[in-house]
Amino acid sequence: MNSANISLKPEISSSLDWGKIRADFPILQLKIDGKPLIYLDNAASSQMPQQVIDRLVRYQTTQHANINRAVHYLSEVATLEYHNARCKLQQFINAREDREVIFTSGTTDSINLVMHGYGRKFIKAGDEIILTTLEHHSNIVPWQMLAEEKGAKIRVVPINDKGELEVDKYEKLFNERTKFVGLIHVSNALGTINPIKSMIDFAHRYSVPVLIDGAQAAPHIPIDVQALDCDFYAFSAHKLCGPTGVGILYGKATLLEAMQPFKGGGDMISSVTFEKTTYNTIPHKFEAGTPPIAAAIGFGAAVEYLTAIGIECIAAYEFDLLEYATERLSEMPGVRIIGTAAEKTAVISFTIAGVHPHDVGTILNQDGIAVRTGHHCAQPIMQRFNVPATSRASFAFYNKKSEVDALVAGIKTVQKIFL
Ligand code: ALA
Repeated sequence: MNSANISLKPEISSSLDWGKIRADFPILQLKIDGKPLIYLDNAASSQMPQQVIDRLVRYQTTQHANINRAVHYLSEVATLEYHNARCKLQQFINAREDREVIFTSGTTDSINLVMHGYGRKFIKAGDEIILTTLEHHSNIVPWQMLAEEKGAKIRVVPINDKGELEVDKYEKLFNERTKFVGLIHVSNALGTINPIKSMIDFAHRYSVPVLIDGAQAAPHIPIDVQALDCDFYAFSAHKLCGPTGVGILYGKATLLEAMQPFKGGGDMISSVTFEKTTYNTIPHKFEAGTPPIAAAIGFGAAVEYLTAIGIECIAAYEFDLLEYATERLSEMPGVRIIGTAAEKTAVISFTIAGVHPHDVGTILNQDGIAVRTGHHCAQPIMQRFNVPATSRASFAFYNKKSEVDALVAGIKTVQKIFL
């Protein structure tokens, strides 16, 4: 399931002790009504290893103060650790400079920052913004709000029956009015990995900037923003073994510098009078107020943890798990997998004939199995497949094949009860 030029390290991956890695996650020891927790809702939020928990405790117990504001010891330590976290994120995505990494409250906030900072300044009436059917609501709604405000138009790339973008149709959408492209890297609802590199290159032929929503990609496949040449890239910590409430926006320095601030407040200014305010340099221009200091430091620890395992090894392990899960679920009568793209991360959305997904989720929960059911904040995808909702099992590197077997057994129980 990998011909998308994603670099994998299957030999190193198979030599790793994945059981030992799993043991880093204390929450996976939980029992739900006496049954072992089988956590298959990683696309919604992943779990946190002890190493990241310990880092948060160390910060809160020995390093916490506000940053960039005082000369006392704790403030200097916290400022330095926050900066170090930014550098870890810079390395994780291979950004050219640390000032190209803005801490936000998460992917949604990052996309809204681009909409307000770039879109409201540069998109005008009659301009066109290209999005895709695979977008999460967070990369649809802000652009609709902008389009409404400016009199701009949204154009949408369709998908085929496997849940893959119709790239030829994407290319046909471009014209002299095209001013922005928003693309999801990996679909949260289906797992499809989009061919973003060639799509970015195509947009650049028209000098159109491209924002990548990487919330579901960064935890699973290596990201190199310089190799991709994307203009913006956004993702959240909590899907990447880090805390909630923090994410990043990567942006090319020249673009970030040209943009207007999104939020006003302390730290994002260089001087303030009642007559005029001048703004700070990037990244501070976009980090108004006290940022999520502890969460950002936890985020830094999370990417350090994942890098130590190796994202290429994680990808290889998860591809293997996806192949196994796809085989097992495909052979089940009445089970339909929604999203069968050739290139996928370890996400399986499915329906069971005659059973509502919410009932599927409820019965699986009785066996300690956590899946997400619903429209996954991606209603256009549900409309495209003509289903109101799906059940979604989404895997991480701490899941194992026996948990896939438990899911299969759980689905059989659902079918016994309802059919
Ligand atoms: N976007 C997250 C998901 O896919 C919440 O579940």
